[in-house]
Amino acid sequence: MDKFLIKGPCKIKGQVSISGSKNAALPILASTILFDKTVIIENLPRVKDIVTMLKLLKSLGSKIEFFQNKKTVKITKSKKRKILASYSLVKTMRAGILVLGPMIAKFNKSITSLPGGCLIGARPVNYHLNALKKLGMKYEIKKGYIHAFSKGKLRGADIKFSKISVGATENTIIAACLAKGKTILKNCAIEPEIKDLTNFLNSAGANIKWIGKRTVKIIGVDSLKEIKYSVMGDRIETGTFCVAATLSKGDLLIQNFDPKLIQSELNLLKKIGAKINIFKNKIHIKGPKKIKNINNIETKEYPSCLSTDLQAQFMVLLCLASGRSSITENIFENRFMHVAELRRLGAKITIKRNKAIIEGPSEFTGAELMSSDLRASVALVLASIVAKGQSIINRIYHLDRGYEKIENKLRKIGVNIKRLS
Ligand code: EPZ
Repeated sequence: MDKFLIKGPCKIKGQVSISGSKNAALPILASTILFDKTVIIENLPRVKDIVTMLKLLKSLGSKIEFFQNKKTVKITKSKKRKILASYSLVKTMRAGILVLGPMIAKFNKSITSLPGGCLIGARPVNYHLNALKKLGMKYEIKKGYIHAFSKGKLRGADIKFSKISVGATENTIIAACLAKGKTILKNCAIEPEIKDLTNFLNSAGANIKWIGKRTVKIIGVDSLKEIKYSVMGDRIETGTFCVAATLSKGDLLIQNFDPKLIQSELNLLKKIGAKINIFKNKIHIKGPKKIKNINNIETKEYPSCLSTDLQAQFMVLLCLASGRSSITENIFENRFMHVAELRRLGAKITIKRNKAIIEGPSEFTGAELMSSDLRASVALVLASIVAKGQSIINRIYHLDRGYEKIENKLRKIGVNIKRLS
């Protein structure tokens, strides 16, 4: 298994370009099941989860051709369509559940594996199933698979999600595109990646209108047309590099991302002391000499103060702040896997239920570390960048799921990092 060797402390300087968004590309790719015509998707990040989703689509009968060194794919329907989304693919990437909605809408049947949990939580899919049921899907769960079908086309319905869920919102919007009649979805998640999905579907002829902050109206159409679409930049990768510049007294120009979509985290970084200038598709960020502490940060659904996918990265930053800080994780039940590893570098963090209390400033010294999940792993990379001495980060396959060639990007901006295979 690959590992990273990082020699700190490093000062980050230069510019980095952000890859396409994994969390926008995954639902967009899943929704190509709705199409009979050719779909071209550009600006895909070359990360493991995208490879897995493309394998899943291929197993369901889509023909996949790569261009532009795999950043562009051309997806066409082959005659033989399959309806089994296998556990072997879905278990490694929970977003595999996103093929259920389009399969039911298009094929009126599907055998999709339940995703199973992961280190950050149980990852249930009850909100997906309840919503699709209201559109007319019938299902039973047998041996870990969702055996689903609908009698003819799905039918539009009024649905209010009992809890805000990114995946359930995406699955239901996609399914409703081909349903008969009107669907109103209330209490939707509104992450920018979901808006990218609805932009994509509308440009292919779907009829989706956001009629309230968390309310969307979908009028079903008979089919979608041929389309070429470029995926938005990755919001979490952008936030990760903003934290990297802030914690290392760095000076970084971050390109290919719309700063308006990460405003709440940029406001937090300004409070911490970062100097930030934003332009149309760029962020110029300079890290402060002294990092200020912040108490009572909470992760909440977008557009809240802090995205759960940036919680671990901000925790590293607050370890370096003088004084007490705290972060409460409200989205996932077990998303503090990085804490034990940060303590090995010298962090002073105590956990009370879903609240982490951080005393600083800590002086990190390099150590051997273990990655656990995608975002916790990148937090260990950030900590190693400022730690004195050498750090080894094991099991970086977690990182490869969601960050495109991160070691090359980091090396270009001054980080002494090597991948050991
Ligand atoms: C998406 O996961 C993202 N993944 C996650 O990013 C992100 O952390 C999460 O949204 C929250 O923003 C992708 O977009 C591929 P949810 P998702 O449904 O859709 C519970 C990363 O690092 N829940 O909004 O699975 C769930 O367990 C990944 O890129 C149910 O109980 O998130 C969680 O506690 C990690 N029942 C909460 O709701 C359901 O049916 C929010 O989950 C669905 C969710």
